Amino acid sequence: TQNTMWGGRFAAGPDAIMEAINASIGFDKRLYAQDIAGSRAHAAMLAASGILSEADADAIGEGLTAILGEIEQGDFPFSTALEDIHMNVESRLRERIGDAAGRLHTARSRNDQVATDFKLWTRDQIDAATRGLEALIDALLGQAEAGADWVMPGFTHLQTAQPVTWGHHMMAYVEMFGRDLSRFRDARVRMNECPLGAAALAGTSFPIDRHVTAEALGFDRPSANSLDAVSDRDFALDYLSAATICAMHLSRFAEELVIWSSAQFRFVALSDRFSTGSSIMPQKKNPDAAELIRAKIGRILGAMVALFTVMKGLPLAYSKDMQEDKEQVFDAADSLMLALAAMEGMVRDMTANRESLAAAAGSGFSTATDLADWLVREAGLPFRDAHHATGALVAMAEKKGCDLPDLTLEEMQSVNPAITQGVFDVLGVENSVASRVSYGGTAPAQVRKQVARWREVQAGW
Ligand code: ARG
Repeated sequence: TQNTMWGGRFAAGPDAIMEAINASIGFDKRLYAQDIAGSRAHAAMLAASGILSEADADAIGEGLTAILGEIEQGDFPFSTALEDIHMNVESRLRERIGDAAGRLHTARSRNDQVATDFKLWTRDQIDAATRGLEALIDALLGQAEAGADWVMPGFTHLQTAQPVTWGHHMMAYVEMFGRDLSRFRDARVRMNECPLGAAALAGTSFPIDRHVTAEALGFDRPSANSLDAVSDRDFALDYLSAATICAMHLSRFAEELVIWSSAQFRFVALSDRFSTGSSIMPQKKNPDAAELIRAKIGRILGAMVALFTVMKGLPLAYSKDMQEDKEQVFDAADSLMLALAAMEGMVRDMTANRESLAAAAGSGFSTATDLADWLVREAGLPFRDAHHATGALVAMAEKKGCDLPDLTLEEMQSVNPAITQGVFDVLGVENSVASRVSYGGTAPAQVRKQVARWREVQAGW
């Protein structure tokens, strides 16, 4: 049988394989709410512009409301023969209200329709990601406030470097997720132009008002070029690149939680609510949520690569290749939202182990830089010489099997006679972190300033 939507010039219906490769309803049904909202705005505009009678516009509006109800209650008869969400809805509208349904597609094409639907959907996802990030930042601020002065080792190369504070480490992620937030917000501003009314590619001869539909759908303005309007998918790529960078940040944090929750580190205890057990090893409490968050970037980055590959080399305007834009973005968005929610939950629930953090902070000669700095400041040594002398003291402590503060004054003076009792003040981790008062440094006073600044930012959300 011929397709009732476009079958006029066809003598035969499509092969089953053709139908299978062509149909997108299996996944684009997810755009139903956006599709109906777009149709509603379009019909109202057509009526206001005198292109459609008020009676027809009313019938269309009521029919669309009924269809929305059917879909939401799960009793809408989706049909693969009708290819996609657009034709499924329109065909059902004809069944419900008759001929008036056929006037809805005046001055419109599925090309501007799908671009509009997908943009509305992606915009909703940007808003959801924004809220998810705001909640995660709030959870991190809570951790930073509680532990602004809890000492822990800071690492480079995952080797003990210098002591830092728990609050400082949490606030590092606040900065990262804060930039993610701004990337999503930027993407939203850039994408917020309405494709509807671009029609197939060239615009339309009907006296439509694209400003009206743009406003009704919450866009800032109609897109200015009809060819671009139906061809652009860079809004989805903008979303995916923001999502990928965010997923990368989540993955790094997740990796730290996996390491920190191990028996060898014991820096944090994850809550039972965000851990799992082993079916064979009774003692196990595994950080599965963190591991899955760490992995989600694979799907999200994969989606971005897939969509770039679909879009590269496509001539203007619409090509059916572009139907392959949606599934990847849907999957990426689901993955991102789940990862954000799981991370927020884990951060709210986790307990830092202050004793383990402090013990680890003092080991591994973590205050060697403080000692070198002291030699510069108090004994007037050039930094390179101070570095060398401190290295010798580290070697001495290592040989003795102790930490730097455990060396005696005499031992220290054997390396450099200018060393006095005062050096012991800087060898303690508390003093070390308290001294790092430079802007953005790890001193508790600095961390509290940064937390306060973010709490102010937060008040504006
Ligand atoms: N299902 C299509 C898509 O997702 C809708 C647009 C189809 N347009 C067309 N001219 N065949 O891209």
